[in-house]
Amino acid sequence: MNRQVDGHSDFRETVIQTRLISYDLVAYPSYTHPQTHPDRLAVIGILSGLEPAPVNRCRVLELGCGNGSNLVPMAWGLPESDFVGIDLAARPIACGQRMVSDLGITNVRLIHGNITEAKQDWGKFDYLIAHGLFSWVPAEVREQLLAICRGSLAPQGIAFVSYNALPGGYLRNMLREMMLFHVRGVEAAEERVRQAQALARFLAEAQDTRDEYRLWLKAELEGILDHDEGHLYHDELAELNEPFYFTRFMERATAHGLQYVGEADYFEMFDHSFSESVRQTLAQLALNRILREQYLDFLKCRRFRQTLLCHREVCLRTEPQAEKVTGFLVSSPAECMTGASDLRPGIVSAYQTPKGARCETDFALGKAAMAVLGRAWPMPLPFEEVMQQAMISSSQERVSDQNDAQARERLSEFLLKLYSAGIVEFRASLPLIARGAGERPVASPVARWQAEQGDVVTSLFHIAVKVEDEIGRRLLSWLDGTLDRKALLERIWILLESKKALVIPNGDETAARRAIELSLENNLEKLARLGLLVG
Ligand SMILES: C[S@@+](CC[C@H](N)C(=O)[O-])C[C@H]1O[C@@H](n2cnc3c(N)ncnc32)[C@H](O)[C@@H]1O
Repeated sequence: MNRQVDGHSDFRETVIQTRLISYDLVAYPSYTHPQTHPDRLAVIGILSGLEPAPVNRCRVLELGCGNGSNLVPMAWGLPESDFVGIDLAARPIACGQRMVSDLGITNVRLIHGNITEAKQDWGKFDYLIAHGLFSWVPAEVREQLLAICRGSLAPQGIAFVSYNALPGGYLRNMLREMMLFHVRGVEAAEERVRQAQALARFLAEAQDTRDEYRLWLKAELEGILDHDEGHLYHDELAELNEPFYFTRFMERATAHGLQYVGEADYFEMFDHSFSESVRQTLAQLALNRILREQYLDFLKCRRFRQTLLCHREVCLRTEPQAEKVTGFLVSSPAECMTGASDLRPGIVSAYQTPKGARCETDFALGKAAMAVLGRAWPMPLPFEEVMQQAMISSSQERVSDQNDAQARERLSEFLLKLYSAGIVEFRASLPLIARGAGERPVASPVARWQAEQGDVVTSLFHIAVKVEDEIGRRLLSWLDGTLDRKALLERIWILLESKKALVIPNGDETAARRAIELSLENNLEKLARLGLLVG
C-alpha cells in the first residue's frame, strides 16, 4: 500500500539498491599503501628526470579509493596539499566521509561515483593513484582509467597503476579457477568464501612436500587461507580478475599518450639477485626498457606490478640521476652482519634488512654512512647530515683523504645502488614525526581515530601498524597532548583495575606503579619509533 502512496520514495529506494555493488555487500579491507604515497612517487620521478610538484603542496587523485584508508591519512599528513578520491561503492565512501568529518580534515574530498561517468572537472593532479583497480574492472573502465591518467595529470605528474601480471598470474589463476569451480552455483557471499576456504584447506592438507609442485601448491594455499575473507571474496573469487603481460599493459598506456617511468617498488627493476651470466643474457635480450622489464617478469615469474607512468612528452633519463640523491632524506633498516662495522678501507662489511635484502662493501665512507643510518633508524636524515657525520667518523679513523665533492659524489652513487637493492630508503620530504615522546605526547589524530575503530592504525610514515593489545590501543587514543605521564599512569591504573588485570606483587603498590611507569615509557618510545607520535 505504501508503494502506491509514496511513489517517490520507492523510486529512490530502487536507485539506491541498484547502485549497491559487491564492495557494498562485502567490505574490502582497505589499508594504507606506502608505495602509493606521493613522496615515493616523487623520489622515483626525480631520479628518472621528472620535476614533480613538491609533495607538501600538491594535488592527488585516487581512483577506486575504497573507504579512504589510503587517502585520508595522506591528507592529514600533508595539510597544504589537496586530495580527491572516487569510488563506485557507496558504503566505503560513506565510511571514509565519516572519518574525514570526525577528524575535521578539510583538504580531502571523497566522491561516490563511477570513473566512466565522472565529469572530471576536478582540474589537474600531480599524483594519481589507481591501486587494485585495473585488473578487476571491464575493458572500458580500464581504458577510462588510462584516459583519466592522460587527461588529468599535470605535465610533470606521475600516475601509479597496479595490476596482476603474467606469467605469475597464470599460477594464481590456477588456484582461482579451482575455487571458482568449487563455488559454482553458490550465490551467497559468505558461503562462497566459506566453501573456497574449505577447498583450499582440503587441498593444502592433502599435499605432502615430497615434490616441488606440491610444495609450491601448499604454500600458495596457505597464503590464501591467511587472507582476510574480504580479500578472498574480491580478489580470488572476483568475477573479473585479469592479469596482463607488461608489454600489453604498456601498449594500452602508450596508446593513451603515456610512458613508463618505473616501478613503485624501485628495487623490482633490478637484476641484482641473478648471476652475472643471467644478467649478461638479459642485457642482450633487452633491446629497450620495456622488453627488459618483460624478460625480468619471465625470470621472476612476476604476478603483480605497480607501474608508474607519465606523459609521453616528458624527456626521461635512461639512467637514474645519482646527483639528485643529495637532495633526499635517507634511512635504512639494515643491520651490519659482521658485528660492529670496521671502517678501514679494504675490510668488507655486510648489511642486511629485515626483509632479507643484502649487500657487502669495503667503501669506508659508505660503511660510516650505514652506521649513521643504523643509529638514526627509523628517522630519515638529510643526505648532507649523513655525509657530514660519516666524514667525521671515517676521518677519525684516518681513512679518508678525498675532497668533499668527490666524497659526496661517491656516497650518492653508493646510496643509489643500495636504494636499487632495497637496502636504503629515500624521501623527498620529512613527515611530521616526533623524535621522542615528550612531556605530553601527541599521537597522530588519524591513528587515534583508527584505534577507536579497530586494531590497524596508520603511522606518519604511511605504514599500516597492527596494535593488537587493548592497552596499546587505549593508550594511543588518549595521547591528545593534554595528558602528562602522571595522568596517563592514572588512566592505565584504572583501566587495569577495571579489567581485573592489576598485579600488585606482595601488596607493594609503589612497586606496581613503578612497573607500570616503566612499561608506559617503553610503549611511548615504541610508538615514537613506529612514527605514531606527532612532532
Ligand atoms: C580491490 S578494491 C581496491 C580498493 C583500494 N584502492 C585498495 O587498494 O585498498 C577496488 C575498488 O575499486 C572500486 N571500483 C570498481 N569499479 C569502479 C569504477 N568503475 N569506478 C570507481 N570505482 C570503482 C570498487 O568499489 C573498490 O572499492
